[in-house]
Amino acid sequence: MFLTENLAKFARIDLLKTATMMEKLENLSRYLGRDIYIKRDDLTPLAMGGNKLRKLEYLIADALQKKAKVIVTAGAIQSNHVRQTAAIAAMYGLKCVALLENPIKNYDSNFLNNGNKLLTELFNTQCVMCDELIDPNRQMKALIEQLNLEDAYIVPVGGSNALGSLGYVRCALEIAEQRPKDVEFAAVIVASGSAGTHAGLAIGLHAALPQTPVIGVTVSRVTAEQAPKVSQLQQEISAFLGQTSIPDVHLWDNYFAPMYGMPNKQGSEAITLLAQKEGILLDPVYSGKAMAGLIDNIRNNTLESQKPLLFVHTGGAPALFAYSGINSVIG
Ligand SMILES: Cc1ncc(COP(=O)(O)O)c(C=O)c1O
Repeated sequence: MFLTENLAKFARIDLLKTATMMEKLENLSRYLGRDIYIKRDDLTPLAMGGNKLRKLEYLIADALQKKAKVIVTAGAIQSNHVRQTAAIAAMYGLKCVALLENPIKNYDSNFLNNGNKLLTELFNTQCVMCDELIDPNRQMKALIEQLNLEDAYIVPVGGSNALGSLGYVRCALEIAEQRPKDVEFAAVIVASGSAGTHAGLAIGLHAALPQTPVIGVTVSRVTAEQAPKVSQLQQEISAFLGQTSIPDVHLWDNYFAPMYGMPNKQGSEAITLLAQKEGILLDPVYSGKAMAGLIDNIRNNTLESQKPLLFVHTGGAPALFAYSGINSVIG
């Protein structure tokens, strides 16, 4: 397929080595009366896993080619993306600087120090707090100047530029390969934040399994704001890969309230359900809310076909330790 050939033209450090597992969630399927499969990207093999490794395979390859000595990135204080970036930087002997915000203005000691933050510091990343990430790329450039950093490489928030998103085009091809021969998915469901995961999956699946839409469950924005972000990234990825046909954007936006980073009841119930039915850990910011969307839409029968669904588990469980005291993460 031309997509595979064009993907191969981009440098990638092969940290994933093998595909992540895809399996059927037998107990949850029985409980909800609908076949549900899961793609275990929460189990990528570095620093407690998660979706960012696939993006960082491309981004860090680029940084190394450009002879970078410092990786600069940004995110929330409990960012999984920052934790995984910090780990890879440590692995390659690169300094890492992270610009962090506290979007929910929570000053609980676990939130400030435990979970992803603890791990980020363990990887020896220099954390710099800011009031708010309003224009992260501009703020990271200013930080580079302020700290006099030489040979710095900016990894955008969430690793979500076209280059990073190629990791999820690859993941889509992996899904198409792994899909049991007798299974056609009605949809692939995934959390949609900085949008690289969603956009990359959508571009890859559009080529490899064109009947299967990707539905992004938004974690920070309403559809009117998130759709242009996904669409813009899809266009940029397509331009990179020379693909002319671009899929429609599908979003569910009623599962992230009250705001990004703040747990809610449906998300907490989804976390509890997956833990108690399958022994699988979701998180209160991304995968718990995405799973809440999947469960709710099954219960309300909103999906046209009764075919199986695939949930892409993007990780995030280290945040459970940071949120333990906040708004009852346990449903
Ligand atoms: C656990 C988890 N799931 C999902 C996402 C969302 O992925 P994206 O930012 O590519 O939309 C993130 C982003 O940080 C994440 O940490």
